[in-house]
Amino acid sequence: MPSIRLVIVASIFATVVLGFPSTTLKARVVSEQDLHPSYDYVIVGGGTAGLTVADRLSEDSRKTVLVIERGLLDQREEAFWIPLLAGQVPAKYLYNMTSTPQIGSHNRTFRLQAGCVVGGGSAINGMFFDRGSAGDYNLWRDLGNSGWGWDDLLPYFKKSETFHPPDSATVEKFGITYDMSVHGTSGPIHASYPTFLYPAVKNFLAAWKEFGSHNPIDGTSGDALGAFWTANALDPNGYIRSYARNAHYDRVESRANLHLLPAHAVTRVLFQGTTASGVEFMPVGDSRRTKVNAKREVIIAAGAPHTPQVLQLSGVGPSELLKKLHIPVVVNLPGVGHNFQDHPLLFADGVLTNDLDPNPSYSANETWLEGERFKYDTNRTGFYTTSSGNAAAFIPLHELTNRSEELVAAYAAQDPKLQFPTGTDSTIIAGWRAQRDALVSSIRAGTVAATEYANGPTAWMGVVLIKPLSRGSITINSTDPLANPVIDYGFYKNSVDVDIQVEAVKAWRRVLSMPSWQALGAQPIDPPNNITSDEDLREYVIQVSMPTTSHPSGTAGMLPRNLGGVVGPDLRVYGVSKLSVVDASIIPMIPATHISSTVYAIAEKAADLIKARNA
Ligand SMILES: Cc1cc2nc3c(=O)[nH]c(=O)nc-3n(C[C@H](O)[C@H](O)[C@H](O)COP(=O)(O)OP(=O)(O)OC[C@H]3O[C@@H](n4cnc5c(N)ncnc54)[C@H](O)[C@@H]3O)c2cc1C
Ligand SMILES: *[C@@H]1O[C@H](CO)[C@@H](O)[C@H](O)[C@H]1NC(C)=O
Ligand SMILES: *[C@@H]1O[C@H](CO)[C@@H](O)[C@H](O)[C@H]1NC(C)=O
Ligand SMILES: *[C@@H]1O[C@H](CO)[C@@H](O)[C@H](O)[C@H]1NC(C)=O
Ligand SMILES: *[C@@H]1O[C@H](CO)[C@@H](O)[C@H](O)[C@H]1NC(C)=O
Ligand SMILES: *[C@@H]1O[C@H](CO)[C@@H](O)[C@H](O)[C@H]1NC(C)=O
Ligand SMILES: *[C@@H]1O[C@H](CO)[C@@H](O)[C@H](O)[C@H]1NC(C)=O
Ligand SMILES: *[C@@H]1O[C@H](CO)[C@@H](O)[C@H](O)[C@H]1NC(C)=O
Repeated sequence: MPSIRLVIVASIFATVVLGFPSTTLKARVVSEQDLHPSYDYVIVGGGTAGLTVADRLSEDSRKTVLVIERGLLDQREEAFWIPLLAGQVPAKYLYNMTSTPQIGSHNRTFRLQAGCVVGGGSAINGMFFDRGSAGDYNLWRDLGNSGWGWDDLLPYFKKSETFHPPDSATVEKFGITYDMSVHGTSGPIHASYPTFLYPAVKNFLAAWKEFGSHNPIDGTSGDALGAFWTANALDPNGYIRSYARNAHYDRVESRANLHLLPAHAVTRVLFQGTTASGVEFMPVGDSRRTKVNAKREVIIAAGAPHTPQVLQLSGVGPSELLKKLHIPVVVNLPGVGHNFQDHPLLFADGVLTNDLDPNPSYSANETWLEGERFKYDTNRTGFYTTSSGNAAAFIPLHELTNRSEELVAAYAAQDPKLQFPTGTDSTIIAGWRAQRDALVSSIRAGTVAATEYANGPTAWMGVVLIKPLSRGSITINSTDPLANPVIDYGFYKNSVDVDIQVEAVKAWRRVLSMPSWQALGAQPIDPPNNITSDEDLREYVIQVSMPTTSHPSGTAGMLPRNLGGVVGPDLRVYGVSKLSVVDASIIPMIPATHISSTVYAIAEKAADLIKARNA
């Protein structure tokens, strides 16, 4: 083995009274000239899933692991660790992707957010840390993925986290309930509650019960149907963000068999015949290309926007597209880049004329904010320990509207062919039909939610279409590996998706009329009360919605190959060997949840699968 010189990257200490907790200060990277010529595993993308898999595979000191990440290591800028400042990540750590004009919404274009940084989405996300319902994951299993139901994934959700229950005073004051039996107590990602919570969350939860839904004891127990408290990806040791970088990289930095190469983009996977043998990569900002071998597997974890890009650049994808770009076809896999899903939403606005204290209007008060910042800096308490909220409601369609069966029947009657442009590969259409049929059964059985209402301490709420049936695509239109892929959300292409949003807005008005909201003087503002007809509400929904909650998924779907799948339940790419995908792109149907905890669970399971076949 050549000697390995490891570069110590100086970390910038925040100049607050309590600086960044020193246990995670030493980040180590390897520079290009110090790479081995080959590794057992080469991982493409050092994001949420990539770092999780790298951590687990490098537990065996005899196996060498290289992670190549296009983004930089964060320099401990406050946005990466102070929960309240999550939205202030500097632009150099972000992608700049914009969609094509979306025909479902007056040809508007929309950004797609993603982190270009070690840690990926987990470094920049809102830290909301919930799970889908059992029905969400059982759908994956029932689509042909044995081993991917709720019971199969629960051990991996647990393995991924250490859950810190709220203290008894908080439990008493806010009525938080939880079930320790569904939580991990020794995993790398820390889940906990901030030290500051809004009292009106109790009204939000009670109102949904009055509405006719319920309050699960623990929304991460597989029962995520109803309104419940949720923790954050927050390390209570210092009240800092818990993310893939500090949990799965800094924590294991002493492992000599784990190398991280940031600021380098993988340009393609190399094949000998149809066996992946390594990758080619380039420094960002330099066109020089270098190769590295993978003895056991190349593992793709570039995230749902970029995993299809890497596969397509490598000759794995729809052959027509590849031929057009003069990319030699390694395997014709029409599903690569299709089945793109996210969570569309709109914000319904309302006021509480008789709100409780404290409430979200406080954050407009600079004096108050300064005091809260002081509390965080000196004592690690207060408002700055909060991120994107601690409650949400996930409401099944039959609880939302009397039109549930009518809407489900409308989905069931749709012609799969008409969901796609003419010429679309038949396996992709068959895959949509299979997903549609499975979703229709789940909605009828009431095992999945239709709408999320986030996050609830005010009458202003995100109304999120949480089980859409519209599907988009992500495809390259250039062989430049640093060019943005073409993002088509396929947003609201399916008219029933819009109908469900219309019912969801009406249900929002009704929930505001429940006693627990009325006690706070809840009144809807937008949409205004004079927009009443379904037709007018439809137009409203189309005009104000956005296609993304930054949950891109499904672009290298885990589905049978004859259903447009890209990977099987072993996460290996069809038609080639020694190549797997382990990130949010494998999600066959987006679960009714914020997806980071699901991505960690997928990656934990992926690592076990990869270890087992390479033992
Ligand atoms: C702004 C935002 C807010 C969010 N809020 C929440 C939330 O509150 N709660 C929640 O649960 N989820 C949230 N999410 C979603 C969640 O964070 C993501 O779904 C998850 O992090 C995705 O993980 P991943 O491993 O699939 O991809 P990522 O974590 O994005 O990792 C992919 C990595 O691959 C790298 N890469 C791409 N191409 C290449 C290449 N060619 N070569 C080398 N490297 C490459 C990327 O730079 C990136 O670091 C949010 C996401 C965003 C962006
Ligand atoms: C996005 O734009 C910002 C600001 O121009 C830039 O610093 C950053 O490098 C861009 N991101 C990528 C991935 O190119
Ligand atoms: C959207 O764009 C398409 C294709 O360019 C065009 O046919 C259509 O009329 C446009 N729709 C609207 C509402 O502008
Ligand atoms: C702003 O906050 C300070 C500190 O909590 C408080 O004294 C003051 O009354 C607040 N101002 C307003 C207008 O609410
Ligand atoms: C400091 O934190 C403790 C809990 O950790 C809390 O009880 C106390 O009120 C806080 N002090 C200040 C000044 O915020
Ligand atoms: C749904 O139907 C029931 C019974 O027919 C009726 O009482 C109720 O008001 C209806 N709810 C809505 C929101 O229309
Ligand atoms: C690729 O598509 C984008 C729009 O998504 C466009 O801006 C760009 O010019 C296209 N590039 C090529 C080479 O066609
Ligand atoms: C609703 O009322 C507003 C003014 O309050 C008006 O501008 C708008 O046109 C009305 N919309 C409808 C659909 O009546």
